[in-house]
Amino acid sequence: MIRNILTYPNPELKKKSDPVTIITESIRELANDMAETMYDAPGIGLAAPQIGVHQRVIVIDISGKNEPPELIIAINPVIVQSEGETYEEEGCLSVPDYAANVRRRASVIVRALDLEGNEQTWHAEDLLAVAFQHEIDHLEGILFVDHLSALKRELFQRKARKAAEEKR
Ligand code: NI
Repeated sequence: MIRNILTYPNPELKKKSDPVTIITESIRELANDMAETMYDAPGIGLAAPQIGVHQRVIVIDISGKNEPPELIIAINPVIVQSEGETYEEEGCLSVPDYAANVRRRASVIVRALDLEGNEQTWHAEDLLAVAFQHEIDHLEGILFVDHLSALKRELFQRKARKAAEEKR
């Protein structure tokens, strides 16, 4: 089922998510809905709080349109190691019509559970590394715009307020 994606400045996006303690049928359903919602948007990643569920579940697929899908479902993901630096443009399904460069680690090692409850490890680089960091941030209530400099963030907030006023 495709779920509604919450957008900035919805306060639900600022809340921290709880660890998943048992992988129940409803967690599997949540993960499947998240994947469906991500592909429908379309986007390359989605975290549960973006659909208003504060559980530590993320989905990622950076494979792109003309390639076979490579869906990653990660439950309770943790970055156990990271190195290097990258500064690439990011966007977010919860922050429509805005993109900005964000400083991130260039490679990360991520540990998480899959839907069967087995521990998985990913050695991610470049776009996949950025996607993991971006989605794990969502579980902490952090949006990519929170990483911007004070000046850039102020410009973004002004633009967002203006867009909200025009919508009214
Ligand atoms: Ni996002």
